[in-house]
Amino acid sequence: MKVRLYSSAAQFSAACQNVRALGGTLGLVPTMGALHSGHMALMHEAKRLATHVAATIFVNPTQFAANEDFGQYPRTLDADMAKCEAAGVNLLFVPDVREMYAPGDSTRVRVSGVADVLCGAVRPGHFDGVATIVTKLFVLAGTCTAVFGKKDYQQLKVIERVASDLKLPIRVVAHPIVREPDGLAMSSRNAYLSAENRRRSCAISRGLSKAWRIFESGERDIDPILDCVRTELAIEHLQLQYAELADADTLELFGGQSRLSERALLAVAAYCDKTRLIDNVVLGEDLDPLQ
Ligand code: PAF
Repeated sequence: MKVRLYSSAAQFSAACQNVRALGGTLGLVPTMGALHSGHMALMHEAKRLATHVAATIFVNPTQFAANEDFGQYPRTLDADMAKCEAAGVNLLFVPDVREMYAPGDSTRVRVSGVADVLCGAVRPGHFDGVATIVTKLFVLAGTCTAVFGKKDYQQLKVIERVASDLKLPIRVVAHPIVREPDGLAMSSRNAYLSAENRRRSCAISRGLSKAWRIFESGERDIDPILDCVRTELAIEHLQLQYAELADADTLELFGGQSRLSERALLAVAAYCDKTRLIDNVVLGEDLDPLQ
């Protein structure tokens, strides 16, 4: 069946309501486009969990700082539509900026705690933008199951808080990270990497895998675990922005002399030349990233 395309928020919302009025259920996959197999996996999961799937494509300006890649972010709408169709998406919402942020728009959703550390500490305002646009999309979609990837683990935690704190009728489902065969976590921003930088970037998943292995063999001190990541990144001259261990639910950082509990988030952000890459593994829960 052909995917139905909406640019009007009111019409998209009415179509979502209509799915439920006819006895169906809705799965929602919000994206910024430049779709890859990771997004397709989210769509397949939504399809498994609901009778109808709505995807959204919107490069959200409020989650980019002035010095970031909003203008350069890949926009590949025709290819994206074909992928949505192949994945069995029923409704596709592709609004323009004025549709989501009408003149005079001044309401922002701000999450504290989980949004303040890791990427939140180095990208001020980023999660306000994410929480705001996702809230708008949740309001338009109404009761649904929304699927998000664990690649953006902190984003997932922020969105879980939004849905729970604002009592929205949304079930948030997390999907495991989808990786390239060599371990690199799939991301639309991988399109920025030259072949050589693409190769160098695998140092991140290699570092996570080494950390995973020493954790599995019983290591609970923070430094040796973080050193696995630092060392791999140094070998390929990637610039580490942060490597942190945090509580996997609250994202409170483990620091100093503390020892890890049986489950902890290991999160990394690094630059390969100008391309910023993030990746993570939940130690004590996820499989080896290179498995
Ligand atoms: O993960 C993304 O693609 C975006 O941050 C999201 C959740 C669609 C909000 O713009």
